[in-house]
Amino acid sequence: MTATRIDGKAFALTVREKVAAHVAKLKAEDGLIPGLAVVLVGEDPASEVYVRNKGKQTAEVGMNSFEHKLPAETEEAALLDLIAKLNADPAVHGILVQLPLPKHMNADAVINAIAPEKDADGFHISSVGLLATGQKAMVPCTPLGCLMMLREHHGDLSGLNAVVLGRSNIVGKPMAQLLLRDNCTVTIAHSRTRDLPAVCAGADILVAAVGRPEMVKADWVKPGATVIDVGINRIPAPEKGEGKMRLVGDVDYAAVVEVAGAITPVPGGVGPMTIACLLANTLTAACRAAG
Ligand code: GUN
Repeated sequence: MTATRIDGKAFALTVREKVAAHVAKLKAEDGLIPGLAVVLVGEDPASEVYVRNKGKQTAEVGMNSFEHKLPAETEEAALLDLIAKLNADPAVHGILVQLPLPKHMNADAVINAIAPEKDADGFHISSVGLLATGQKAMVPCTPLGCLMMLREHHGDLSGLNAVVLGRSNIVGKPMAQLLLRDNCTVTIAHSRTRDLPAVCAGADILVAAVGRPEMVKADWVKPGATVIDVGINRIPAPEKGEGKMRLVGDVDYAAVVEVAGAITPVPGGVGPMTIACLLANTLTAACRAAG
């Protein structure tokens, strides 16, 4: 049986519509316009695409978008100065510093310089601690988008076996925390996990976030499982012409779609939900700032 395709693009549109409606209400009733500042250091092409999309969608839901592009050789102290200005700016409710940062910068120090109440990414150490202890927290956007799709598809997640493949601070670890909060039995698997295929095959919910093109094969997936593919990998596509590339996830979609119960595609799955959740986080921060 072929798996249900979980349409992240369509779901993200409904989330953005809800955010836009709330923003319009805030504007009309309180004269408040939520603002998101995005800081990009350097010229990484993938980061430039993400930042452009974030800016465009922020404006589309009626929020203010403030973009700050700094050259790759910017000193960390200058970036910290900019963050201090954004922290103090009442028109800015959410701040995001695009990662990765150039190697000469200490990413932890930069992220922890963001005022926790403006931490739209949920990467600040205080947001991480709040989430880990089950308190109200800014939640990282990619895992939040995954959770929303899982809840929409499954309803109650209680008691399900969830395997998170990947242990990054941005996706794997917060994803595991969120699934635990929803009463799943959670395993974090990674490159050193013994017999990875067998561990993954025990999952009712499998979230793949390792950055390895098409790593998860059909025999790694329990029949009927829900598979969330966080990977965005560019691989050569000679069939499209010389030098052409195509996007694939961490899951071998063509094979796994025949085994899984539901699966997110790449592109059109997790990606659009990430930006929608960033906008939702910014709106939450603005509402909290307004009291
Ligand atoms: N780089 C890749 N994903 C992300 C993200 O979600 N937030 C930030 N700030 N940088 C990223």
